[in-house]
Amino acid sequence: PFGWYREMRADSPVRYDADRELWDVFRYDDVKYVLDNDGLFSADPATAGFGEEIADSEGEPPPVFDTMLFADPPEHDRLRGVVAEFFSPRAINEQADRIRGLTERYLDDLNDEFDLVSELAYPMPVDVIAEMLGVPTDDRAMFKRWSDTLIERPEATTEAEMESFQQRQRETQREMSEYFSSLIETRRADPQDDLITAIIDAEVDGHRLSEREMVGFCTLLLVAGNITTTNLITNAMRCFTSRSGLFDEFRSGETELSTAIEEALRYRSPVQALFRVTTEPIDLGGREIPAGEGVVAWLGSANRDERMFDRPDEFVPDRQPNQHLSFGYGTHYCLGAPLARLEAKIALESLLERFETIEPVETDLRPIRSSFIYGVEKYPLRIR
Ligand code: HEM
Repeated sequence: PFGWYREMRADSPVRYDADRELWDVFRYDDVKYVLDNDGLFSADPATAGFGEEIADSEGEPPPVFDTMLFADPPEHDRLRGVVAEFFSPRAINEQADRIRGLTERYLDDLNDEFDLVSELAYPMPVDVIAEMLGVPTDDRAMFKRWSDTLIERPEATTEAEMESFQQRQRETQREMSEYFSSLIETRRADPQDDLITAIIDAEVDGHRLSEREMVGFCTLLLVAGNITTTNLITNAMRCFTSRSGLFDEFRSGETELSTAIEEALRYRSPVQALFRVTTEPIDLGGREIPAGEGVVAWLGSANRDERMFDRPDEFVPDRQPNQHLSFGYGTHYCLGAPLARLEAKIALESLLERFETIEPVETDLRPIRSSFIYGVEKYPLRIR
């Protein structure tokens, strides 16, 4: 998409796409402006009647819409406040050993040739979040199916195909809701040292989460916390193998792994686009966007904006400063950023420590089927 972004930044940095009935925003400053002004750009799709098509049979939107991700302040701050402490860098760093242990177990099982996605980058973050929540890891295959469905892009051309796509989405939401409702019941009766128990008890300014909000939060974590981190690990490895000698630079300390991970986040951003709805008419990039319109803020384009970054289309492992927008910006800045960074660092570090050479097996890489998640389905590697 990067060539297309470049053209758009130059010729139509803010534009209306009549086919999708959406506005697109491509330049760094404009994308940041959208994310930084939550009063003008609502994160709640219901603001303009979006999301109705995925309502269940009772006309209720799925619980994931009752989460911080789709809420504006002050509601947003209440929902985020209840769980924020569990995701602070300090709380997350305490889990480093556990994450390392999980990672090592996956490495033990690797063959000389393996698929990075299915053998490590996907299962490890799912295990981590499942363990944090208190969900049995045996249910992992189910989570994979759920999250695959939720990020799917409708390829439907006929009404019947579209209906079947929406049906699958609704069914998945329903399965996830039932699953987490029953897990919450179990924990109410028998509290454990896990996140589900903690959010049942958590209180901010006298507020507790409703049952629906808890279910929404659990589903949000599973979805937000796994596809994204999987693709960070894989995309970073793709960046790293493209530069010969880089692994040795990491091992000798000449180049910081963490700095290179930030650059991978910028260069191959796992989340390419975010969605907002205007609350009033707004001038942006020389266009007037009316109230109640859907706006797509292209993070992937902002991160390649030549107005912001030198050599934007080059992967520069020691790039600093690096103010990429890959975790968003402002109110909704990714809650899981410290966890995602730690997981990626541990996964890549462990691979580097254990194997002398890591190289891609030449194959056609197939992009993930999603309009806003960027990554590949499989990434075969050869190790020695
Ligand atoms: C929000 C990206 C990993 C939980 C966001 C947003 C982005 C993002 C761009 C902003 C959404 C918006 O403004 O509408 C990423 C990327 C990740 C990652 C690229 C991995 C590389 C995680 C993980 C978790 C997580 C591991 C949790 C376990 C969340 C939550 C929000 C969020 C709860 C909503 C925050 C709010 O609305 O206040 N993420 N994320 N993310 N992320 Fe992440």
